[in-house]
Amino acid sequence: MTSTTRTTSTTRSRARGATEAAAAQSLTLTDLVKVYRGREVVPAVKGINLAIEAGELVALLGPSGCGKTTTLRMIAGLETVTGGSIRIGDREVSQLPAAKRGVGVGFESYALYPPMSVRENLLYGLKARKVKGAEQTVAAISRRLELDDMLELRPAGLSSGQKQRVALARALVRNPPVLLLDEPLSHLDASARQRVRRELKVLQREFGYTTIVVTHDQVEALSLADRLAVMDAGVVQQFGTPDEVFDDPANLFVAQFVGEPQINVLRGIARVRDGGVQVEIGADAGGLETTVDAATSGLQDGATVDVGVRPQDCVIGGADGDGIAATVAYFEHLLEFGLLTGTVPGLEDGLVVQTPAADSYRTDQRVIVTAPPERVYLFDAESGDRLR
Ligand SMILES: Nc1ncnc2c1ncn2[C@@H]1O[C@H](COP(=O)(O)OP(=O)(O)O)[C@@H](O)[C@H]1O
Ligand SMILES: [Mg+2]
Repeated sequence: MTSTTRTTSTTRSRARGATEAAAAQSLTLTDLVKVYRGREVVPAVKGINLAIEAGELVALLGPSGCGKTTTLRMIAGLETVTGGSIRIGDREVSQLPAAKRGVGVGFESYALYPPMSVRENLLYGLKARKVKGAEQTVAAISRRLELDDMLELRPAGLSSGQKQRVALARALVRNPPVLLLDEPLSHLDASARQRVRRELKVLQREFGYTTIVVTHDQVEALSLADRLAVMDAGVVQQFGTPDEVFDDPANLFVAQFVGEPQINVLRGIARVRDGGVQVEIGADAGGLETTVDAATSGLQDGATVDVGVRPQDCVIGGADGDGIAATVAYFEHLLEFGLLTGTVPGLEDGLVVQTPAADSYRTDQRVIVTAPPERVYLFDAESGDRLR
């Protein structure tokens, strides 16, 4: 175990061949519920439904405490299920012990064995199961995750980012049909995070593990995932491709959680005209056209709504009455675009507009802001539900 294995393209392809046995499987969660009953009763997961296809990479994205880790631990068999079912392929696994589920896990806490070197940590599970080509697999994955220099070190000698990469490698070398990763890149610095993220995606594609990556970082979720499940308060708020979630948010929570800079949310009054809906914004500041249908949305003339419009969709220009009148509070030149923050009479929050890089605005300048009607979202002012 002490010899240095040089990774060549041959060992890499052999390693791949050696680990190809596990076929990806679909993963289906139905009405999955978890209530923790300790000193307090905590309803952590409140009925989750997700149908994940074989070989798909899904990101569970949501704020701290929304139930992401609990969901993953139930799938892995590390936490009992209060209700509902978990199917891997066509097997119901929710009552099976963890070891019988065919699930690989990489959790936020590294759980590396301190007396073993990195190489031994990576080999450990494979040797125990007498997996063929274990050394080659470990060499190949180590190289891809930039662990070559630390294979002979013990975990205590590693930084938190390095430990996390080892933990990720350990989950990957097992080549499980279902792979669950909880915040796998959270301890890496920005540049390592980007490289490892790319490599993780490539490896996932190559080996085809059905994968769930838990993250609270939307950039990570958007860049990795085939589909994202946006969670809040123990509930999946929306499950869709990154584009679907960004372009067609199901509710105000999703609209605000995904997108950078954050979507503008403005108080508005609905005006129903000819079956369509326009919104008046602020105190006599003008308004925006929408594609919302009065009948479908059930909106009454004069109803209060929350209007969502992304900074990227805002356009400056037009005459009074065409859009929202705003006064420039400040303007920042960034490299690839500008960011204008305007004040709108009657609104507490500023209105943020992303402008072309070549544009320039001065403080106190008056501007008219419009947006394409199909990019102006309306939400119920009480429930946050999308109105269409
Ligand atoms: N072992 C536990 N006992 C009691 N409550 C827990 C336990 N683990 C997590 N929780 C609670 O369940 C909720 C969801 O937690 P968690 O799944 O860790 O969220 P996330 O991973 O999204 O941050 C939180 O309110 C958390 O405090
Ligand atoms: Mg967590």
